[in-house]
Amino acid sequence: MNHFELQDGELYCEGVPLSRIAREVGTPVYVYSSATLERHFTVMRDALRGAGLSSEKWGEPLIAFAVKANSNVAVLKTLARLGAGADVVSEGEIRRALAAGVPPERIVFSGVGKTAGEIAFALETGVAELNVESEPELKLIDEVAQRLGKRAKIAIRINPDVEAGGHAKISTGKAENKFGVSFAEAERLYANASNAVGLSPVGVACHIGSQITDLAPMEAAFTKMRGMVERLRGQGLHVERLDLGGGLGVPYFNQPDPPGPADYAAMIGRVMAGLDIQFAFEPGRVIAANAGVLVAAVQHVNARPEGRRFLVLDAAMNDLLRPAMYDAYHDIRPVRPRDGAEVVYDVVGPVCETGDTFTRDRALAPMAAGDLLAFMSAGAYGAAMSSEYNSRLLVPEVLVRGDQYAVVRPRETYQDMLARERPAPWL
Ligand code: LLP
Repeated sequence: MNHFELQDGELYCEGVPLSRIAREVGTPVYVYSSATLERHFTVMRDALRGAGLSSEKWGEPLIAFAVKANSNVAVLKTLARLGAGADVVSEGEIRRALAAGVPPERIVFSGVGKTAGEIAFALETGVAELNVESEPELKLIDEVAQRLGKRAKIAIRINPDVEAGGHAKISTGKAENKFGVSFAEAERLYANASNAVGLSPVGVACHIGSQITDLAPMEAAFTKMRGMVERLRGQGLHVERLDLGGGLGVPYFNQPDPPGPADYAAMIGRVMAGLDIQFAFEPGRVIAANAGVLVAAVQHVNARPEGRRFLVLDAAMNDLLRPAMYDAYHDIRPVRPRDGAEVVYDVVGPVCETGDTFTRDRALAPMAAGDLLAFMSAGAYGAAMSSEYNSRLLVPEVLVRGDQYAVVRPRETYQDMLARERPAPWL
């Protein structure tokens, strides 16, 4: 469910017409709904609660929002106020999570190439765990921790070698991917880590991919993860946390609905029944995707004599990369749908490459220059992946709550853009 609905013939975000935001803030602009963010988080939290994944000893599952999906501090704050933690992959993301008020003990640090500097920063911050992706990384964390006189809480990220489906660029759980270690290697590393001066192994982690719409591969992976916890404990090793990653998909358009948080939680409850451990999750997309839209304006309608009809927008691939990068489908809705038969358009941006195409052959209500449209489901991996390619200004972000809105990242200015650069002394 989301809070982007037509009211009196135009698209609103909660109680605010998108046309008002476009007029006052300009386009392109990302717009997020607080109510949707909150709802998605609480639905997930309640589903996991209902599946018996809490215990007196370990408390509630840790829901660490994947900051990479939407790293805007106001968005993070909205979730942190409900008790969300943060799954981070860089020092920058740790700093964002802290700025949003996420307590360090709810921050999980993932990623295959954490630098010594980032590891030191995470240890000084006191994050809940560093998810270790390889043996060389385990050694580096041990060294850094010893240098700082600390013991790093670590979880070993396991690559369960399952095929999660979805786009190859975002599938992570096969042995050929760069993420994590095998079960056999994890067992050896866990035992080594238990004897290392700078390490305190607290658990195991996995994350098999993103936009997963079939629970079967997750169930297979999670079943193996449970077995791993039991094997480690059987060897007398201490295991207190099981981090099952993120990856649950969302409906991007009118497809049969993918499994939702309730199905996901029920499956996990079944697989994990009776396992005494603290659970952690790293959802990103399922919380944020349908909580945001990218609003753009039509620059030109270019009807070519050869037959194609291009809708040239003021938004481009640098603002929303997913269609160019993953051939992703985003529903496109006119902000004030005009009457009349649908027209078939190719929707493109102004960037000078053919990849700057949001979609081809899309039937939409008739559009004219100046009209606004909204790319739906753009709240995850939208603004977070945007860039200044073609020296286009970074898009502003707006957070709506009821009938008010706030510009939570103003549009960049050309001064900002140019001020970052320096002349070389010989120029
Ligand atoms: N945990 C880890 C370790 C991850 O690598 C990711 C996402 C997540 C959690 C969150 O996954 P989610 O619940 O959002 O599926 N840019 C791509 C998606 C890349 C996902 C990368 N890792 C896209 O736009 O589709």
